[in-house]
Amino acid sequence: VRENDVWVVGYPRSGMTWIQEIVYLVQTLDFEGSRSIDCDERIPYLEFPTSTLTDLSEKPSPRIIKTHLPLKLLPTQIQTIQPKMVYITRNPKDVVVSYFHLVSSIQSLTRYKGKLEDFVDAFLVDRVPYSPWSTHVLEFWEIKDQPNVLFLTYEDLQKDLEGSIRKVAAFLEKDLKNEDVQKIVKHCSFDEMKTNPSVNHQWLTDRQFQDPKKAEFLRKGKVGDWKNFLSKEQDDKLNVKIALKLKHSGLFFHYMEAELSNS
Ligand code: A3P
Repeated sequence: VRENDVWVVGYPRSGMTWIQEIVYLVQTLDFEGSRSIDCDERIPYLEFPTSTLTDLSEKPSPRIIKTHLPLKLLPTQIQTIQPKMVYITRNPKDVVVSYFHLVSSIQSLTRYKGKLEDFVDAFLVDRVPYSPWSTHVLEFWEIKDQPNVLFLTYEDLQKDLEGSIRKVAAFLEKDLKNEDVQKIVKHCSFDEMKTNPSVNHQWLTDRQFQDPKKAEFLRKGKVGDWKNFLSKEQDDKLNVKIALKLKHSGLFFHYMEAELSNS
């Protein structure tokens, strides 16, 4: 771990690719590289074998590192060196639907052949990778006020992308020109990112790991898409689990797009 690293952390399908791209552009203003160099190369994924730990240790500073690992499994130097960490989270109903589509679309890697109901059941008993979701989120929520931590939600980004980019810039101590902020806003819109092969993980399709007919990496990019997939019974079960886990934490999520404008 290096003092000038930026670690981007979150449970899968919480908007990691989105916030990584924002962090990368705020840090580098490298709009050209953001289109031409795959995001996994620019921002190594710590525990995934697209790059090795040796590659990572040889990468020049300042590094941006992506990981889905929970806080307790991060290198112990995180506590002593305290690099900047941006944590992203998302309402768990959209997470579970988005996660199901991802694991089903990259079946040659995940071997997952279950249906949505199986996946929701597995999520509810913390049997999908990187679970438990609630522990993942709450461990970072507890340290959100540390000066080296920026805690954001997917719904924050949806509600106010420009404001979120400015928050990231302030956190990374980057004094951006207004026109640069506007360029980042445009570059990080869903439509721009979906048509950017470097962030839409085109390599997964090119190497026949992903079936884009089932889902692309950037799928719908909405708050509340879970409504189109989850039954009343699944919704009730998730509500009980979420209430049980998040009670007393002070952490709340928005579950529908309409709620964003009132918050
Ligand atoms: P959906 O499957 O609901 O569309 P991660 O990068 O953590 O795997 O998260 C992926 C989710 O973030 C996907 O959700 C993806 O579409 C969404 N996402 C990525 N970039 C986005 C953007 N610029 N705007 C809105 N949503 C985005």
